[in-house]
Amino acid sequence: MSIVYKEKEEQFHLHTRNTSYIIEVLEGRYPVHTYWGRKLRFTDRTGLVDLREVCSFSPNPLDSNKTLSFDTMPREYPDYGRSDYQSPALSITDSSGSHLIDPVYDSFRIEEGRSLPQGMPGCRLTADDGCDTLVLTLRDSILDLYIDLYYSVSEEYDVIIRRTEIRNCGNKPVTLNKVLSSTVDFYGDSDFEVMNLYGAWTRERQVSRIPIGRSGHLVDSKRGASSHEQNPFLALLRPETDEFSGDVYSMSLVYSGSFMAEAAVNSYGKTRMQIGLQEIDFQWQLEPSGSFTTPEALLVFSPDGLNGMSGIYHRLFRERLCPAPWSKRERPVLMNNWEATYFDFNEEKIKALIDEGHSLGMELFVLDDGWFGRRDSDASGLGDWFTNLQKLPGGLKSLSDYAHRKGMQFGLWFEPEMISPDSDLYRSHPDWCLHVPGRYRSEGRNQLVLDMGRQEIQDYLYCSIAAILSENGIDYVKWDMNRNITEAGSAALPSERQKETSHRYILGLYSLMDRLVNEFPEILFESCSGGGGRFDPGMLYYMPQTWTSDNTDSYERLFIQWGTSYLYPPVTMGAHVSEVPNHQVKRITPIETRGNAAMSANLGYELDLMKLSSEEREKVAKQVEFYKKIRRTIQFGDFIRLLPPSSDRGTAWMTVSDDGAEVLVFYFGHLLRPNDLGCRLKLRSLNTDRLYMTEDGEKYYGSELMYAGISLPPLDCDFDSRLIRLQAI
Ligand code: DGJ
Repeated sequence: MSIVYKEKEEQFHLHTRNTSYIIEVLEGRYPVHTYWGRKLRFTDRTGLVDLREVCSFSPNPLDSNKTLSFDTMPREYPDYGRSDYQSPALSITDSSGSHLIDPVYDSFRIEEGRSLPQGMPGCRLTADDGCDTLVLTLRDSILDLYIDLYYSVSEEYDVIIRRTEIRNCGNKPVTLNKVLSSTVDFYGDSDFEVMNLYGAWTRERQVSRIPIGRSGHLVDSKRGASSHEQNPFLALLRPETDEFSGDVYSMSLVYSGSFMAEAAVNSYGKTRMQIGLQEIDFQWQLEPSGSFTTPEALLVFSPDGLNGMSGIYHRLFRERLCPAPWSKRERPVLMNNWEATYFDFNEEKIKALIDEGHSLGMELFVLDDGWFGRRDSDASGLGDWFTNLQKLPGGLKSLSDYAHRKGMQFGLWFEPEMISPDSDLYRSHPDWCLHVPGRYRSEGRNQLVLDMGRQEIQDYLYCSIAAILSENGIDYVKWDMNRNITEAGSAALPSERQKETSHRYILGLYSLMDRLVNEFPEILFESCSGGGGRFDPGMLYYMPQTWTSDNTDSYERLFIQWGTSYLYPPVTMGAHVSEVPNHQVKRITPIETRGNAAMSANLGYELDLMKLSSEEREKVAKQVEFYKKIRRTIQFGDFIRLLPPSSDRGTAWMTVSDDGAEVLVFYFGHLLRPNDLGCRLKLRSLNTDRLYMTEDGEKYYGSELMYAGISLPPLDCDFDSRLIRLQAI
């Protein structure tokens, strides 16, 4: 049983495979967090938190007990205004204008399996995954406001999933100013480092790890998207934790809009870690009888360092977050025309690329931006989702038929959430974009953002996209989003609800994607936001892969794919070979290395194949052929980080197939150094007594590969790389 209620002790014990999480109700009123970490065996102890009377600067909310102060108490769901001076999980304004609330323990229930938050993505865990849900209910008696704290606990997937639901059972409206999904207090424990994944366009998910110190660490996005800037993720690590050992406590938010995650230590050495919706562009009017649900937060603890944490997320995302039909289905080798043609293409050029891709073994052709409306540059056309017949006189169908006749699939680019001021759609519906009357409408890449919370806009997009997909034999969709949100106002909402616009946008987006992916379950959807500006668990629930970054330089990609891999498995990452000099950084790297970087995830090509030399053609054909042999392991095996890109010895990672029979080792050198002896790389997760053989017939025992390591000769040139395939014999 993953959830145990100990009545006498008033404790709730949540257990996964490696973790225990314990809550105790103090004074029959206050649920406090007493433990999260390595799995515990437990005696019948109460008073897990040793509270004692403190100074007058930590006031007491109960007259009867002077040892109680929220200042020291590790509460499960803290509010503000009554002696808790850390960042609250909940902030409200009631009809009198007061922000006070006193949520007191009311009741609990334990449910089999779990339900997802209404209208939002989440992990599809069931009772068969050893998953049960504890719902702890708190109540403010003056407002008659109920707070349900949900904890879904999966033994099998080693995760605790939290969310919060607020129900207004009173007779007056309440304004929600902040409602987080999860918060955890570590009582008297501040020996942590904080890790997050930060970045920018073309520099996504770089790793930051610093001591927690005594100031707050805020990781957030206010961009209306989870963003390139920060990923909705935060981890606390012990100073000694590394990739293979030590404790990691992490939270990841299943949400694609603005968010916040925070870690801070208070004057008593209590560390608070939390995650949820961003507060600056959020507010929600909760009418009597209304309820509000937060996105869900995934709480993953690993006693086995960062690779241990990643292994838990990878399996959970692959098998229980991404759409079920894609959880085990191999991804095609694709070619995309964006960097080959940009907007400058016609039917003939596309057919020539299809021919060439087909002869090189590629399986899916993706027609990127520029096929619709009057879109010959990024200055016009978004919103006009009909084929540009001047550019493609035979229509999309003739192109998709052409690809299909060759046995290739055909995919298409959309940017549904946007509208160009120079479009028929904008001329007919100038109020459909996010805007505030009388204020300037800021453009980004010459485009405005549709008000996705509005039903008629979702319906327009559903009908126009569904028509294109069903009439033209489309096998794949790239769903792009190329700017962040400004002037987040909605023409459809009254003034007191304007601050609901950003969250309603995300709910509307989720609803539209839900309709489309359910209507077209055979289509492979890939999300994109100028590369990885919305690489988050929320998008993965609908679309099983994401275009990792617009940066296709194979050296830069090592940093991006390394950082991305902390949460997201290779099968969720799009990775393409592009031409040199690279279009983003002008760097020249060998085609083998560009291939090896892209083969570490879902392989694609994004360059003008017509310009390849015959030697390059041969190499590309070989890469494609080889990738098809190893892709099951790449896409569904266990990925392990070995050497970080910041290391002066090069970058390395490996993947082991789920039956352990195939091992793929990727090593990327950086700059060539004189007088270099090469590198000895120690592998992980092998069977010590098993014999493994390389493609060249060299044999090694697992123990030798792990403890003595495999020898990699010095590089032959800058940015040289190796891909070693080992098979158990
Ligand atoms: C941004 C994407 O990240 C690119 O791959 C490409 O699809 C362009 N948009 C097209 O406008």
